[in-house]
Amino acid sequence: MNEFELFPEAASSFAGEVDLLYWFLTIVSVIFTVGIALALLYLGIRYRRKSEDEPAPEEIHGSNLLEIVWSVVPLILAFVMFFWGAHLFFKMRIVPADAMEILVTGKQWMWKIQHPNGKREINNLHVPLGQPVKCTMTSEDVIHSFYVPEFRVKQDVLPGRYTQLWFTPTKIGTYHLFCAEFCGTEHSRMGGKVYVMTPSDYESWLEGGADASLSPVEAGELLFTSLGCATCHHDGKNSQGPNLAGVFGTMQPLDSGGEILADENYIKDSMMNPQGQIVRGYPKVMPSFKGMVTDAQITQIIAYLKSIAGTEEADSTTDEETPESPESALLNDALEPDTTGQRYVRMEQ
Ligand code: CUA
Repeated sequence: MNEFELFPEAASSFAGEVDLLYWFLTIVSVIFTVGIALALLYLGIRYRRKSEDEPAPEEIHGSNLLEIVWSVVPLILAFVMFFWGAHLFFKMRIVPADAMEILVTGKQWMWKIQHPNGKREINNLHVPLGQPVKCTMTSEDVIHSFYVPEFRVKQDVLPGRYTQLWFTPTKIGTYHLFCAEFCGTEHSRMGGKVYVMTPSDYESWLEGGADASLSPVEAGELLFTSLGCATCHHDGKNSQGPNLAGVFGTMQPLDSGGEILADENYIKDSMMNPQGQIVRGYPKVMPSFKGMVTDAQITQIIAYLKSIAGTEEADSTTDEETPESPESALLNDALEPDTTGQRYVRMEQ
């Protein structure tokens, strides 16, 4: 760190483009700032009133040419900034279909991360080089913000809803993970490291360690059964609720008119407040699961619904080696000792 660096290292596919736009903004600002300051100095000296008797200069009124120039030039510059920025913004918002999904939960004051095969880690994120990675994120308490400066990505992480962010790492190395939203006394310590590894190193890292548990899809399927969701949501006769296979990611007609995209937030809302936006043609009988499931469990149920939607390939982890009983896996949600004793509700079969 003895070398002065204007930008953090550029380690994602966005970094170069973000920096280029930033350079453009900086250079335009410098040109105008220096130009205006120099003109001010020059004109101040050149036309200063040298003595008391000097007559006041004649005022000039109206110059169409001048007015057009100083309106149109900044307008063009502002439009370049706007369209360039918007183009980049959309690129960063639209997640590629082949992105690997990593689940991120923020809480005071740590980042809890789970990989597609179920492996978990805290305040560390291991990702393979060159692979688009999508982080689906939520918070257990207050607003946090997931920020990796070297990737030039930052996204608020909110309680009660899901947000997403994606990136493609382009450089092997270790980078910073910050929380970029003041979230309480330990905010400044809520951070960690992002490790970009070769795909084969990542694979062996995934396999290693003893904390491999059920994948989110498997845990979600188990919850779907144990919570009784499957008793109403099936495709047989007399089903009280819609069959949820093939639903995730599609538009659903609403009882109240209109339609809604069945995404993460809609699924969660439907569990917390089932009568709120009910799908047309079904009775208002679903109970609320508010307080009965943790955010981590909701995330797992959503992962399961995604897997049966056909929009994302199902997690095909075989059952050859189930490392622990399903029940203990569910209770394993607590990555750290649960001191409140009530965060994790035990499901009765
Ligand atoms: Cu979490 Cu600041």
